[in-house]
Amino acid sequence: MSFQPLDKINIEYLELVVTTKCTLKCKDCANLIPLYKNPYSIEFNVIKESLLILLENVESIEKFRILGGEPFLYDDLDKVINLTLKEDKIKKVEIVTNGTIYPKNMKLIETMINEKIKVVISDYGDLSKNKDKLLQMKKKYGINAELLKIDHWLDYSKIHCRNRSESDLQQQYTRCNHQCMSLFNGVLYECPRCGHGMDLGIIEKKENEYINLLDDNADNIGEKLIKTFSGNKKFISACNYCDVERNIKKIPVALQL
Ligand SMILES: C[S@@+](CC[C@H](N)C(=O)[O-])C[C@H]1O[C@@H](n2cnc3c(N)ncnc32)[C@H](O)[C@@H]1O
Ligand code: SF4
Ligand code: SF4
Repeated sequence: MSFQPLDKINIEYLELVVTTKCTLKCKDCANLIPLYKNPYSIEFNVIKESLLILLENVESIEKFRILGGEPFLYDDLDKVINLTLKEDKIKKVEIVTNGTIYPKNMKLIETMINEKIKVVISDYGDLSKNKDKLLQMKKKYGINAELLKIDHWLDYSKIHCRNRSESDLQQQYTRCNHQCMSLFNGVLYECPRCGHGMDLGIIEKKENEYINLLDDNADNIGEKLIKTFSGNKKFISACNYCDVERNIKKIPVALQL
């Protein structure tokens, strides 16, 4: 997120979680999806209302990624895409899929035929059994579709408290240099790790570390955005449960549980 004058917030990169349901169970999933015992989808109205409130309070969202879990399991994906198409403040939209599902719903396919939308297919080899068919949507319909070749993952998954001192926490926060906020079930989180960790009940929910966009009392979201996610940043509780940084161990991609 970058801050120009106080009233102009530009979000560089936001991930929208539409479901925690998935067709795969990757052992090292950065979004902790296999830890959900009862995976669920987010109501479309919650997504719509929270996104509209957020948009009222920002200048732009440069990169908007729709994911999960597996986004093609989400029944109202066409409605979410339509919403992002109507909103000029959202500049680029990516749908990130694991390549297991080929969408048959023509309404959904039609919404994806737009230069603002790109389908990013994570290449998990044979696990991504529909990746070629998905790529062909380019020729067949003119949908931007791209195969994301991934030669390694990073060792992100283990979520337990590291008992770090304040200075170590600050160091972890600075090292991660995270660029990605997460909008998940009406709540805006600093990063996906924080959102999923809190939603799973593993990381304690601390006020001032997230914004419930649908909260009646949150009448001044703009100010809260600046206070909660402002430039001179302090670590959050989630940093005690996280080793994210560029130099952590490389591990094989999408090993299944
Ligand atoms: C969490 S997934 C959700 C979308 C979809 N289910 C998928 O797998 O593409 C989003 C992206 O995170 C990447 N990812 C997941 N776990 C990772 C890890 N441990 N290290 C690096 N990237 C990871 C995936 O490869 C994918 O491109
Ligand atoms: S990384 Fe694997 S488990 Fe995680 S959301 Fe994607 S496909 Fe599902
Ligand atoms: S939990 Fe902290 S260290 Fe980990 S990605 Fe989020 S902000 Fe960065």
